[in-house]
Amino acid sequence: VWPVDKKIAEDENCPQITQASLWIKKNEVIAFPTETVYGLGGNAKSDAAIEKIFLAKGRPSDNPLIVHVASREQLIGMVSSIPERAKKLMDAFWPGPLTLVLPKGEDVSERVTAGLSTVAVRMPDHPVALKLIKECGLPLAAPSANVSGRPSPTTAQHVHEDLNGRIPGILDGGVTGVGVESTVVDCTAETLVILRPGGVTKEQLEVVAGETMMDPGLLNEQAAPKSPGMKYTHYAPNAPLFLVDGSPSFLQELVDKQKGAGLKTGVLTTEENAPFYKADAVIPCGSRGKLESVAHHLYDALRAFNESGVDIIYGEVFPKSGVGAAIMNRLEKSAGGQIIKE
Ligand code: TXA
Ligand code: MG
Repeated sequence: VWPVDKKIAEDENCPQITQASLWIKKNEVIAFPTETVYGLGGNAKSDAAIEKIFLAKGRPSDNPLIVHVASREQLIGMVSSIPERAKKLMDAFWPGPLTLVLPKGEDVSERVTAGLSTVAVRMPDHPVALKLIKECGLPLAAPSANVSGRPSPTTAQHVHEDLNGRIPGILDGGVTGVGVESTVVDCTAETLVILRPGGVTKEQLEVVAGETMMDPGLLNEQAAPKSPGMKYTHYAPNAPLFLVDGSPSFLQELVDKQKGAGLKTGVLTTEENAPFYKADAVIPCGSRGKLESVAHHLYDALRAFNESGVDIIYGEVFPKSGVGAAIMNRLEKSAGGQIIKE
């Protein structure tokens, strides 16, 4: 683990970042912080590097990666064209938690795009990520730096838990900001389509790009999601999670039943509602009044249940507006779609 000051200046010398960029240039992979979650980065032009990313994560090879750049010039060779609407989105949201799916360029490794004719690209809003990409002079293909199926890492400690011994190093820039992954949008169709809700909200996208729709695959089980990653169970804690759409007293009744059956119980809640519950692990995840804080704490809370060794978890639901759409998307995936209504 290589600690770096998050506030590092652009022109400041940083031996840890230099060391990391040397590994990247040798087509090895290292973990680095972004404003959303930690990424596991490798040279986007190298098949060998990309192979190592998939191996370290245990990721299915049909799930494509996001290419991270530090400047628009680095998109040359990565994408084959940039439609006007995509340029507007870059102007408005880059650097930031928005990933654009565009026609693939010639220099991207086939392994990055999993054989698709499109490629996902984003410019992260984090000084350490940007400095690393600039210093190695290469676009970095990077998925979240977790073992596949586990919650994405929001601290270097999380990355260490998952990938220790599998990669040469982790740049530690402290806890990430947004806490959930970037929004992925398909810019190749007539209408802008959200393939994965994330840090940039539908409401924000509409202001810049006009009509914006959610991929039907996100909203119902029948349609297949267009973003390959969305079909896997994700972000799962070890114990089964059930979402509860109802009052705290209803949720507590469910907990009491399981306690009666001898199970160790967990409740995923918020600062406001935490005092209502009696369970073996009551874990508050931000404040209901500020959904950004829920996003920020979400993955750490899901991981905390593993340490508490509970057998079953009940979790509160959130409104699906703003960043709530991303929170509920991740929670529904963690729960494998299991929702109990009062
Ligand atoms: O915030 C983030 O996006 C983080 C940080 C590290 O940048 N990265 C991240 O990567 O979440 P990953 O690999 O965990 O998720 C990438 C998502 C997957 O759902 C994948 O299927 C989708 O992007 N994706 C990648 N390329 C695509 C493409 N060409 N078409 C559609 N979906 C694509
Ligand atoms: Mg991921």
